[in-house]
Amino acid sequence: MTEWRLDAGTGASAQTIALTTAGGVPEVIWWGAALPADEDLAQLAASARQDLTGGMLDALPPLSLCPEPGRAFQGQPGLVLSTAEGAPLLPAFAFERAEQGPGVLRLVSVAEGLRLVHELRAYPTGVIGLRTLLDAKRPVRVHWLAAPVLPAPQDGDIIDVHGKWTREFHLNRTAWSPGIRLRESRTGRSGHEHPPYVIFAGRGATNAAGTALALHYAWSGGHRMVAEELPDGRRQVQFGHAWGAETLTGTHFETAELLALSSTSGLNGIAAAFQRDLRDRVVQWPVPARARPVHYNCWEAVYFDHKLADLAAIADRAADMGAERFVLDDGWFGRRDDDTSSLGDWVVDRRKWPDGLHPLIAHVHKLGMTFGLWFEPEMVNPDSDLMRAHPDWMLGPADQVSGRHQMVLDLSKAEVREYLFNAVSEILAEYPIDYIKWDHNRLLPVVDAAQGRGIYELLGALRKAHPGVEIESCASGGGRIDAGILAHTHRVWLSDSNDALERLRMQHDAALFLPACVTGSHVGPRKSHTSGRVLPMSFRAWVAAQRHFGFEMDLRELTVEEAATLKAVTSWWKANRGWMMAGMIHRLDSDDPAVIAEVQVAQDAGRFVLFAGQAETSTQILPRPLRLSGLEPGATYRVRLLNAEDAPRQSRGPNALKSGELTLSGGALMQRGLQLPVAWPASIWVVEGIRV
Ligand code: DGJ
Repeated sequence: MTEWRLDAGTGASAQTIALTTAGGVPEVIWWGAALPADEDLAQLAASARQDLTGGMLDALPPLSLCPEPGRAFQGQPGLVLSTAEGAPLLPAFAFERAEQGPGVLRLVSVAEGLRLVHELRAYPTGVIGLRTLLDAKRPVRVHWLAAPVLPAPQDGDIIDVHGKWTREFHLNRTAWSPGIRLRESRTGRSGHEHPPYVIFAGRGATNAAGTALALHYAWSGGHRMVAEELPDGRRQVQFGHAWGAETLTGTHFETAELLALSSTSGLNGIAAAFQRDLRDRVVQWPVPARARPVHYNCWEAVYFDHKLADLAAIADRAADMGAERFVLDDGWFGRRDDDTSSLGDWVVDRRKWPDGLHPLIAHVHKLGMTFGLWFEPEMVNPDSDLMRAHPDWMLGPADQVSGRHQMVLDLSKAEVREYLFNAVSEILAEYPIDYIKWDHNRLLPVVDAAQGRGIYELLGALRKAHPGVEIESCASGGGRIDAGILAHTHRVWLSDSNDALERLRMQHDAALFLPACVTGSHVGPRKSHTSGRVLPMSFRAWVAAQRHFGFEMDLRELTVEEAATLKAVTSWWKANRGWMMAGMIHRLDSDDPAVIAEVQVAQDAGRFVLFAGQAETSTQILPRPLRLSGLEPGATYRVRLLNAEDAPRQSRGPNALKSGELTLSGGALMQRGLQLPVAWPASIWVVEGIRV
């Protein structure tokens, strides 16, 4: 027997993965909180050995990093392979060697003509990245290849994420039971429906306490997750590209990286580590020290109706409100008056813009803002010059159903990538643009991993050629949010819903995985364009101020009072974004289900801001105290309610925060909590704390 271990992280997110082999593909004997440095791994491996009884084979097939059907493993296999001609292959791998360096472990197994490498990498952010690589002497067909397979815990529940357009990031909690929980994105994107995240919450785990393990598959092209409880009681979890995504035979295949985390401080330990990992490792910031600018986006203001005079007037108001980047959305190219034409024709529409975009950009620059532009490069409308010239560039069958009147370009083709690289580059060369909103608005007609690799290659080439340009990943809102795309982009458009009530909940749940600095959030129109709800400016503005802040409405609709509120919140956000965007979001365990609350804490715990959103009417008459999280228990904080003016008429008692500051220890704030004034539904209290 041979054993290895890999450790990552510190404190409550310190984790260990320990492995052993008895001659076959190695198996994980421990994935969880860090083991003592002197843990005897041979004893640990011995202690993991199971008994046998009736109804079983005479040996328990190992739950290895790649459970093999060729070794009679009776659950879902980690690899499904055939010859190039289609005959099933059932290789039985033998362990060959381990290569271990600082923070890296590579385990190599071989079978007739095949080499399987499992690579584990410990990152300074506390994440362990796991990847599988397969090489074959002769071309083979891969139907399924799992990233290194892990044993799932025996206690607790599965929390995964579900969503749809305008309702992204909903948490599903499922109890384990014999059989399989299978989630698959077959839409060519990581998807609104089943984004590639899972948390195994230990029994009784809350946001602030308990144990949890989590995985995130860093791939944008569609994936599969299998969480299976075997008849013998063992549990396994597998992630990989969607079934059949490798459409061609080949001699080399690899999975994306599966990011693994462990926490002994509840779900917030997972959230903090994922937030840190995306912000400090995955995202490649052009200028890391640059403050995240306040955005203005014109989509819900003018849609396709681009007129210089209107946009210039809106830009004036945006700058006056404090915006620092003006983003011109869909409608500037080809003959794009609605969504039925022109995708692919990335040339400025001279009917709308006779002098090109120069006059608008000059105006925006004069107002002190930078300029961003919308593209949807992977797509083509049948009604476009590009499609007429290159009908063969389309992905999928000729008689496929369109989506939003559009087709997808085949990005596995070098000439398609070259065309798109040049088209985008020419616009970036002609105009001073520091930001691209990169959209992707349809489900793919086929599942094909080559499309995913193609988009990464195109984005990589554009980033190399234009290193100062930031990119936002948008896919009808949050249809492509994952660590794969975020390695090439800098912001995600969480949702097309700017309804603050919907956003409050979505942002709260997405914070399990996403840091504030990449999560775009805009103050939308008074009457939401996706729900019809009319919400007060204070609520809309403070909810957007929880994340990377911006506006998206016709700002000419603002009343004097609304403008004053928006301006005040914007200037508060600018004054605080430095520490907030570098800090952590802690989701609070609110004892009132009507209250969705979080506290954002600076890296040194020297300051915090509490956002307590009243999503609906509470059952009880008075608010329950909110226990904060992530503070220094022994430190003293001066605590101040920032928006006392939002107190409703019916708030008539002596709540201390309405009339002044309080000075309390972190311990008191975290254990007894903060007593807020009563609140109307669709309102939010914002409380600032500074260590004294
Ligand atoms: C979908 C995006 O999510 C919207 O924000 C907007 O950019 C439209 N596409 C434009 O067509």
